[in-house]
Amino acid sequence: MKITSAELTISAAKEEQFPPGMFPEVALSGRSNVGKSSFINTLLARKGLARTSQRPGKTQTLNYYWINNRFHFVDVPGYGYAKVSKKEREAWGRVLESYFQNREQLKAVVQLVDMRHKPSKEDVMMYEWLKHHEREVIVIGTKADKVAKGKWDKHAAIIRKELQMHEDDKLIMFSAETGQGKDKAWNAVTKALFN
Ligand code: GTP
Ligand code: MG
Repeated sequence: MKITSAELTISAAKEEQFPPGMFPEVALSGRSNVGKSSFINTLLARKGLARTSQRPGKTQTLNYYWINNRFHFVDVPGYGYAKVSKKEREAWGRVLESYFQNREQLKAVVQLVDMRHKPSKEDVMMYEWLKHHEREVIVIGTKADKVAKGKWDKHAAIIRKELQMHEDDKLIMFSAETGQGKDKAWNAVTKALFN
């Protein structure tokens, strides 16, 4: 897809702040540091747009990126991290749960797992929960550049098995470093957004 415009429009901390229009959106999900923001930047070919860091983020907001005046990418803070109080964590959990369950504009969830490792318990739970709520899930195996190509199939099989992936769910090996998988990821995302 040719990107003509891309900007962060709102960091939403609660439902009232979600954009009101009926434009379609895809949201990123995955543990902290897995490469969500890098994924957005790679697809948009905008290096510093979504903030990436080696230190896990503390902010609890849904970051809405408005693309080509047509759709949103929603960067979601990684799970498995919380430098906040239990109370805040629970409140945020409720915002997220409601978002993933009810948001009508949400056409698919891009779930990222680090393809070097077996998916974590949280990855499995998240995937199951999304499928239970009948969300389309596009699974991305990140950091593919760190795994020898000859081992990709083996790693992919482990991810499919651990997540108990449905056969028709996509699993795409991806690297923000090399651009591997970028076209496939775009295909899957645009299908979800506009079909
Ligand atoms: P949070 O916002 O904390 O949830 O993390 P995130 O999932 O957005 O991860 P982010 O994109 O910030 O990437 C975390 C680190 O992994 C950064 O140092 C990235 O440069 C690195 N990284 C992300 N994707 C890749 C990849 O495909 N290959 C390699 N080698 N490094 C990557
Ligand atoms: Mg991030």
